[in-house]
Amino acid sequence: MANLFPKESNIVPIKIILCKIITVIMIVLGITYYFTPKYTRVGYKPTQPVAFDHSLHAGQLGLDCRYCHSFGTVSSHSNVPTTQTCMNCHRQVKSNSPKLAPLRESWETGKPMKWIKIHQAPDYVYFNHSAHLNRGISCASCHGKVNEMEVVWHDKPHSMGWCLECHRNPEYHIRPQEEVFNLNWKAGDGSTKAQVEQGRELVKKWGVSPPQNCQACHR
Ligand code: HEC
Ligand code: HEC
Ligand code: HEC
Ligand code: HEC
Ligand code: HEC
Repeated sequence: MANLFPKESNIVPIKIILCKIITVIMIVLGITYYFTPKYTRVGYKPTQPVAFDHSLHAGQLGLDCRYCHSFGTVSSHSNVPTTQTCMNCHRQVKSNSPKLAPLRESWETGKPMKWIKIHQAPDYVYFNHSAHLNRGISCASCHGKVNEMEVVWHDKPHSMGWCLECHRNPEYHIRPQEEVFNLNWKAGDGSTKAQVEQGRELVKKWGVSPPQNCQACHR
């Protein structure tokens, strides 16, 4: 039989197969990446318009979280502070600092600061801050030790599995109500054993039973 194709074309099928294999690998990797919130979120640390430092304000200066995130305990939604809250101090303190220029501009124009949101539950998830804060769950359990962060990052996965892990075993996290905003608090000698012992008592005393049914979080 006459050779209808030039010799070159013998390698074309191989190229096609290779291309397909690479495409499949890319798709698998892409999907794995997309569906693993651990990789997409934990460590997310955007650069904010003003280099606000929690380790200075909430750590060294010892400001309470609620001074700025005031809605956390009374509503489902936690908030970032308004420019006014910052200006309570920064009209006097470092009032000419170039680092605060965007803040002064926001103050003068009345346009809110454009803080970049770090934590965001999907629309189909119902989440309520106060339900947790009023039941002895600290900011630290869900956001890490923000009081030591110069720049806030996404510290925990906030995936469904992660929510459920605590809902099944709240004794690993629950603490006396008055220590919820004290991010440095540890039970007893600081061991897991001490936490779990005290945790079990509080769970029993308050009758805590976090929901595990789908409708609680997907309404
Ligand atoms: C002086 C005001 C102030 C205080 C006090 C403060 N914060 Fe903030 N917080 C901010 C501002 C402004 C932002 C937005 C900019 C940023 O991410 O740094 C923020 C962002 C955050 C975020 C990320 C929000 C997001 O976008 O998802 C968390 C979590 C947070 N703060 C927790 C805390 C905790 C916990 C404390 C107490 C230990 C605290 N903050 C104390 C002002 C404050
Ligand atoms: C209770 C008073 C107080 C409040 C409220 C406050 N700050 Fe500060 N801030 C300070 C002090 C004190 C310093 C340290 C000044 C120094 O280093 O001498 C500081 C430093 C800073 C600096 C560093 C400035 C520089 O030039 O080094 C930035 C940026 C800053 N604050 C942003 C903010 C923002 C944004 C808010 C509102 C979310 C805010 N602060 C709220 C007291 C405050
Ligand atoms: C049980 C876990 C949990 C606890 C406890 C918790 N948070 Fe959150 N936080 C979340 C989740 C989940 C989101 C994302 C919510 C959303 O997108 O509606 C969030 C979002 C935030 C935001 C961003 C809100 C916005 O609109 O930009 C701030 C600020 C915040 N939390 C501060 C705090 C502070 C301060 C505390 C302690 C007083 C705290 N959180 C305790 C889970 C928690
Ligand atoms: C560190 C522990 C912990 C984590 C993490 C946690 N929860 Fe909870 N959750 C609790 C506790 C404790 C309660 C209170 C149960 C009670 O009052 O009996 C609760 C209650 C709830 C409730 C019922 C309260 C209401 O308003 O109906 C919902 C809904 C909820 N959690 C959703 C979530 C979601 C969504 C996440 C993940 C983004 C999450 N939780 C992460 C401990 C946790
Ligand atoms: C404690 C709260 C909570 C409960 C209970 C819960 N979910 Fe979720 N679910 C979440 C959160 C938070 C997410 C978002 C995860 C993310 O963004 O990575 C989610 C995401 C999902 C998704 C999207 C796919 C995924 O994994 O990201 C599906 C589907 C889902 N849930 C189904 C269910 C079903 C079915 C049940 C009951 C068996 C259930 N959920 C119970 C909190 C919960």
